[in-house]
Amino acid sequence: MITTRWIDVPATAHGRAARLAVHVTGKPMGSAPLAVLIHGYPLDHRMWLDLLHGPLAQQRTLAAIDLRGHGSSPGSGDPVHTMELLASDVAAVIRSLADGAADVIGLSMGGYAAFALWAQAPWLVRSLVLANTRAVADDEQARAGRDAAIATVIAQGRRAIADAMIGKLLAKNADAALIARVFTMVESLPVESIVADLRGLKARPDRQALLKGITAPSLVIAGEHDPIATPAESSAMAQAIPNARFAVLPGCAHLTPMEAPELFAGEVARLWAH
Ligand code: MLT
Repeated sequence: MITTRWIDVPATAHGRAARLAVHVTGKPMGSAPLAVLIHGYPLDHRMWLDLLHGPLAQQRTLAAIDLRGHGSSPGSGDPVHTMELLASDVAAVIRSLADGAADVIGLSMGGYAAFALWAQAPWLVRSLVLANTRAVADDEQARAGRDAAIATVIAQGRRAIADAMIGKLLAKNADAALIARVFTMVESLPVESIVADLRGLKARPDRQALLKGITAPSLVIAGEHDPIATPAESSAMAQAIPNARFAVLPGCAHLTPMEAPELFAGEVARLWAH
């Protein structure tokens, strides 16, 4: 069973106060290590549902966060969701639900936030799964793309963002039910959150220098056909992290935990077994 916990985050140097919904399942709190799952853009905790209902729930207390302004978490009015702001929210969740560190799983924007968390408070990270994510910052073309996406969502609404992204998020042969799940998430995300995310994604720093200092046991996961975080780039990122394992999930694009939840869970279980 999944229960929702509410965590109040005070204002910090990174942003305003917020109320976060955290969806918890698996081993009873305190009886096993905590694992936090950080979703990507423009999504929410529902992208992790297959994992929450899978075998990892036998090993950990699983906590899937709705970042501020996503899923059940109300927006905070912050005009930019910097990765540092999102990371300080994740840190507040870990402090509230665990005695010490947590296993951290971040996908794409969630991975960028995980890098920021490592930079802010590495002692809160027991192990790190970096799925379909990138250490590099946006280049000029990508930053222009963020501005174009902001203009699109303001002028045309969320459906236009979903239409533009679906072919990158899921592999070509994705079934209709999976496509519908992704559309449901994107179309329930407030426009202000999409805009604040895009500004934060555009402003995120390059994290390549951080990689060699990541000492937590790590796993980098790529999707064979991911056009956003390509397997080649993910492999180079894994090589730069001491003792990171690298896995490419066949047939997947960007949303590997939705496209191949069993393979994804198997890789995470192997990381946790060490
Ligand atoms: C995500 O899935 O979080 C986004 O694709 C990240 C990005 O656009 O850089």
